Amino acid sequence: MDILELMKNRRSIRKYTAVQLTHEEMEKIITAGLYAPSAGGGQRSMLVGIRREHLTRKIGRLNFLPFDRSKLLGGHVSEEQPSVIDDPTIRDGFYGAPAAVAVFGPRDFPFSIADAFCAAENMVLMATEMGIASCIISRAEETFATEEGETLLREWKVPGNYICRVFVILGHIDGACPHAKPRKTGRCLIID
Ligand SMILES: Cc1cc2nc3c(=O)[nH]c(=O)nc-3n(C[C@H](O)[C@H](O)[C@H](O)COP(=O)(O)O)c2cc1C
Repeated sequence: MDILELMKNRRSIRKYTAVQLTHEEMEKIITAGLYAPSAGGGQRSMLVGIRREHLTRKIGRLNFLPFDRSKLLGGHVSEEQPSVIDDPTIRDGFYGAPAAVAVFGPRDFPFSIADAFCAAENMVLMATEMGIASCIISRAEETFATEEGETLLREWKVPGNYICRVFVILGHIDGACPHAKPRKTGRCLIID
């Protein structure tokens, strides 16, 4: 698919079937993340792919814990694919997706957030091209800030000075693909 068409077709999906990604699919999506641009070519991001459904569920619940409705940065998100902002009954920050990639970066490196989101964007575009549904998920820094979360980081051998910056959740869409919101106008300028 033409890359611009692919970008236009990518949607954030929050309704998933239980069908798991294959190991090969996860590997290809992570490879796309590893090939993202990085500050100074430093390739500092560490990517952990989770294909174990009960573990994805557990991290999704940990991700929801710091969600504070009184401190929302945005309003309504989507009617077709309600987010935790739209639907107060949702308690899983990963929306039942069977798989996810956690992107870690050095806590004190000023571009580690930018690096992580470049990797995340590469991964959601790769997933779209493969017919796999995805969504970028925030609250990453707080997600592992519990004893349960820290145990996982030790198991995965995440360096002590690294912190989670973003997640990409992955799976297969349950239902119809949502429509794209129209683009807000007046946000660009071309100086010829
Ligand atoms: C920085 C960033 C953080 C986001 N965090 C979340 C999140 O925590 N939960 C969620 O459901 N969607 C999250 N999203 C997805 C956006 O809600 C989504 O991109 C937006 O509603 C536009 O929809 P679209 O991606 O289908 O075009 C995030 C997107 C970005 C870029």
